Amino acid sequence: MTSPDLAALRPRLPSPVQEIADGRFGRHGIRLLLKRDDLIHPDLIGNKWRKLAPNLTAAAGRTVVTFGGAYSNHLRATAAAGRLLGLPTVGVVRGQELSDRPLNPSLTRCAADGMRLHFVDRSTYRRKSEPETLAGILRAVDAVDAYVVPEGGSNSLAVRGCRALGEELRARVGVDADADVHVDVVALACGTGGTLAGLAAGLGPDQRALGIPVLRGGFLAADIEGLQERAFGGRRGDWSLDDRFHFGGYARVPAELDAFAGDFERRHGVPVERLYVAKLLYGLVALADEGAFPRGSTVAAVITGRPFP
Ligand SMILES: Cc1ncc(COP(=O)(O)O)c(C=O)c1O
Repeated sequence: MTSPDLAALRPRLPSPVQEIADGRFGRHGIRLLLKRDDLIHPDLIGNKWRKLAPNLTAAAGRTVVTFGGAYSNHLRATAAAGRLLGLPTVGVVRGQELSDRPLNPSLTRCAADGMRLHFVDRSTYRRKSEPETLAGILRAVDAVDAYVVPEGGSNSLAVRGCRALGEELRARVGVDADADVHVDVVALACGTGGTLAGLAAGLGPDQRALGIPVLRGGFLAADIEGLQERAFGGRRGDWSLDDRFHFGGYARVPAELDAFAGDFERRHGVPVERLYVAKLLYGLVALADEGAFPRGSTVAAVITGRPFP
């Protein structure tokens, strides 16, 4: 078994940083930067590259089995990685009822990239981390020796991979003609919190990370502490969460949020992924209005994904 050659995929790292002139920040004396992780790779987009790359290396040519919902960005990225690197992949999809329906565009892309899809009912899906359930799934997909990546890709290798995102923003960053910008706050949208757990560990002592959870529930801080404990042996970096911008929960995109995202795209020519990135940018505008960032601050928003299709 050999490790796949990830360098051959030519990731754009460090990802570029772009300054945005937007009066909603400018009038409060805040400089807004976009950390364009969406430009790292056309198929392994944003945090997907940072999380999957170390796992694909660890898989060392074995079949990669992973998990996700019917529109999972993570499943699409894993399938694309399989195609690009010649690795067999299996996607375990939440929702047995989907198995006898036509595939949606996201799962169609997974299948076209060579991913074998295996649908499980919601109760099995919830128990997928229990050893017996997992063993049953691996037997069912005929991949008992597979390398298993959890839902969302957030294991310790992934968290440590995301530390590089913080490190890229720790030194003074080059933005257009200005080669010497100090970032005070790095903000990003959170699902499992794996990206924030790693990013925060890579920042400097005079910087902080701000997470905007896109799921409802208020459980995320404990999850992130657990992820940092397992990846680094304890809490790392200065980070906090603001739970007010989930818009009702995962995949909820009310008209107001969609209009906000469309307007941001028109103003700045940056594609805005709706499930995560739109909630982040909306939250930042609200926080700037509330005076959450002192005048003279520089805030970097991480663009962790791109709209699909
Ligand atoms: C576009 C995008 N942004 C942010 C995230 C959240 O990442 P995490 O699960 O590490 O919090 C995801 C989820 O994988 C995502 O697809």
